[in-house]
Order: sequence, then structure tokens, then C-alpha cells
Amino acid sequence: MHKAVRRREDDGARHGKSARERTEVELLALEEKYCSHGDTVHYTNPPKIFEGCEGSFLFDAEGRPYLDLQMWYSAVNFGYRNPRLDAAARRQLDRLPQLASQYLHREKIELAALIAQDAEKKFGEKGRVHFNVGGAQAVEDSLKLVRNFKKGKSLMFAFEGGYHGRTLGASAITSSYRYRRRYGHFGERAQFVPFPYHFRGPKGMSKEEYGHHCVKQFERLFESEYNGVWDPKVGEAEYAAFYIEPIQGTGGYVIPPESFFAELKRVLDQHGILLIVDEIQMGFYRTGKLWSIEHFGVKPDAIVFGKAITNGLNPLAGVWAREELINPTIFPPGSTHSTFASNPMGTAVALEAMKMMRDTDYEAMVAEKGAYLLDGLKDLQRRHKIVGDVDGLGLALRMEICEPHDSFTPSKAIVDRMVDEALKGDLEVDGKRYGLVLDIGGYYKNVVTLAPSLHITRQEMDLGLKLLDCVLQRVGKA
Ligand SMILES: Cc1ncc(COP(=O)(O)O)c(C=O)c1O
Repeated sequence: MHKAVRRREDDGARHGKSARERTEVELLALEEKYCSHGDTVHYTNPPKIFEGCEGSFLFDAEGRPYLDLQMWYSAVNFGYRNPRLDAAARRQLDRLPQLASQYLHREKIELAALIAQDAEKKFGEKGRVHFNVGGAQAVEDSLKLVRNFKKGKSLMFAFEGGYHGRTLGASAITSSYRYRRRYGHFGERAQFVPFPYHFRGPKGMSKEEYGHHCVKQFERLFESEYNGVWDPKVGEAEYAAFYIEPIQGTGGYVIPPESFFAELKRVLDQHGILLIVDEIQMGFYRTGKLWSIEHFGVKPDAIVFGKAITNGLNPLAGVWAREELINPTIFPPGSTHSTFASNPMGTAVALEAMKMMRDTDYEAMVAEKGAYLLDGLKDLQRRHKIVGDVDGLGLALRMEICEPHDSFTPSKAIVDRMVDEALKGDLEVDGKRYGLVLDIGGYYKNVVTLAPSLHITRQEMDLGLKLLDCVLQRVGKA
């Protein structure tokens, strides 16, 4: 039995729980009745209950291990129950776990300084950091920064396939209408621009050519006043900023060509449009760099971050922005506020995580592990017709599942079956039974988006590839 499960039972006995613990069936019945189903999507029926976690694994009530290849959508980059980060949380719990944000604590200050100093070194720009709790709230804060700096201009560009969160402002710049359909408009939705998704782009163009083509199409908007966004008489665009994910996350881990953002940035600079980079899913070495935008050689005006900065412990998110946008004169005290914004538990863990990233060569480690896994995925692609495309940057990897007759027509149905099979917990490797935790993304919801722990071992990667092979064999046969 897994440690965490045993501990829970011991705790129950110690606290004199006379009644037996509720069974999974009973819990699921309560969930069905009392939990809002609006705050998540269960991909399997019945939804899975987990009881413990360690490193790259989750454990169910029987203690069965499930290798996690999605790590809470990349919020747990450094492995479940990372000892160094957990110890930082415990130290903070024993010292200063609670404090209203009108007062200061050292972790907040040191964390902001570390992020800003790193950005200054990398981008040659002075800046400041602003905290909030969730990714979407930090996106909202960045929208305020932009609209304030651009004197009330409220129109944004964003990408087709982009995802920036589910609050009203964040869903207005997220491409799926599905997230807005029921709620009306609270502000203008973004103008969505095609992202160079090469696997599904026009035939006969290389990846670089397709990226170039996408930028050219975008640039057309500024050709004359009649294209609708540009006043050539005063040299002013109607749009304030372009929101990007350098690698699309929810959109299916789509990796653009290397020159793409430099070309796009040239157009933005010519027309006075800010570049806001959403690193919520791809930041913190998911792709082998602190910020995934570093692969593309462009300077952002602001970076929004969240998720893995606390390794999924106390939530923390935030924005780094250039001094011009965020200095206290232009963005004065009280411009935004949230009670838990720079909470001591979150900032303490995040500070330790930033120090760990500084002390460890994640760049080399992630590049090496990513290359190994990508090779393994390519091998699976050769052996399974339903794998239409695989790609990866660092440990952000994709496996696009398609109909077997052409290895191209997207198949959500097959990928749904894969997730079900993976979670059954009965995949056998070397005589032992495992489950596999997978996440689905993509424009057609047919992409397995792989985000393993950055600390995943070679044995765990081999296990992961074998488990994927088992799952592909099962659904391929059906
Ligand atoms: C790129 C990106 N932006 C924003 C968000 C929203 O973050 P949160 O779910 O913490 O609000 C997410 C979450 O998945 C994301 O992947």
C-alpha cells in the first residue's frame, strides 16, 4: 500500500474515527449531488479519485501507481512532493504563514527582485513584478496594465488556438467561443489571428515558410486604413497589444517555427503594439528555458506567469512588465488588489523554486530528457498509424491522434478511449500493473499533450513509452 494511503488510515484511527471512511462509490455519489460541475471537466466516467502522490506518480486507494505525464497541466514541473519545495512550505508555515498584503514580507520582495533581475539580464529591460493568485487573474491584471498604458485602448490581438483563462477578461482573449457563449460580452473579444500550426497548414510549405506566410497575412491588416485596424495619417493602431503563448498549451502544444516571433515582433514594433507573453503553462523550464519566449529571441513588454512557480502548492501567479508600463506613477497603488495576491506561503515556495532553477542546470537536463522522449514518440508514430504527428520542445511534447486510414483526420473518439484505458490502472509492464495520467488538448481535442515532471528519470521515461505503447495497442485494435 502506498505510504500516503497508509498514513491517512493511521490518521483516521488516531483521531478516533469510528465510522469507516467513505467508499469511492459513496464519495462519487456525494460529488454528483453537491459539487458544482461548472468548475472542471471530468474526462472519464466515473471520475478518478486519487489518494497520494510522489515524484512522477499518483496513487489510488489501493496504492496502485499511475505514471503522470501531464503533471497538473504543467503546474507540478518539479515532481510531486518535491522535498526542497515542500521544506520551504513547512518552514514558512512555522514562521509567517499569514499576512495581509498591505504589509511586507521578505519572500515577496526577494522573489520579485529575482524575477525582475533575471528579466533585466535577459531582455535588457528594467521592470517590476506584480502578484496575484491564479493565472487568469494575472492575465486580467496584465490587461489593466496594457489598457492603462495605452490610454484606454481596449482591443487586443490573440491567436487562434490560444488559451488565457476563464475569467471574463481572459476568455475574451481566448479563441474558443465555447467559453463565452453563455455569458455575453463584458468587453471586446480579441481579434484572433492564425497561428502557424504546420501539421495542419497548407500543403507544400515548409514550417518556416508557413510561419512567414502567417506574419505576412497579419501584416496585410496595416497596409491601408481600409483594412480596418490602422490610421496611417496619425500612425496609430486601434489595437493595444498582442497576447501570445510562445508554444500553445491548451491548443495542443503547437510549436511555431524559430523565426516566427521575431518576424511578428517587427510588425508589432512598427505599429506601436505591445507584445504580452503568456508563460503560465510553458514557463519555468517546461520547454528548457525559464521563459519559453527565450527560444525565439524577442523582448516581451510583459510576461504573465502562474502554475509551476509554486510547483502546484499555494497558488501564486503574476506579471512582470517593463518599467514604463508598471512604474508606480503610471500604475499607482491600488490599481489592482486581491486579498491573497502575494500570500506568504506561495511567495516562499516560489522563491525557493526560483533559487532551485538558478542552482540547477534545467536547460541541459530538460533538453536531454525531451530529446529522449521525442525519439521514443517518433518510434511509436512509426509503429502506430493513429499517431499522426509528434513534436516537442524540451519536455512539452505532443502526440496527435488521427484516424488510421490517413494518419491525419483528427480523432477525438480514439484519444478519449486512450484516456479511459490509461486510467483503468491495469496496464502491465514487467509483471507490474500501472495506470497512466494523460491530458488532452488541441484544436480538435485529439492531441495528447505531454508534460512530465522535469525530474522524470530514464526508467520512468522508458516506462511511460511502454505504457503509451500498451494504450495505443488497445485502442488501435478496438
Ligand atoms: C497559457 C495559459 N494561460 C492562462 C491560463 C489560466 O490559468 P489559471 O487556470 O491558473 O487561471 C492557463 C491555464 O491552463 C494557461 O495554460
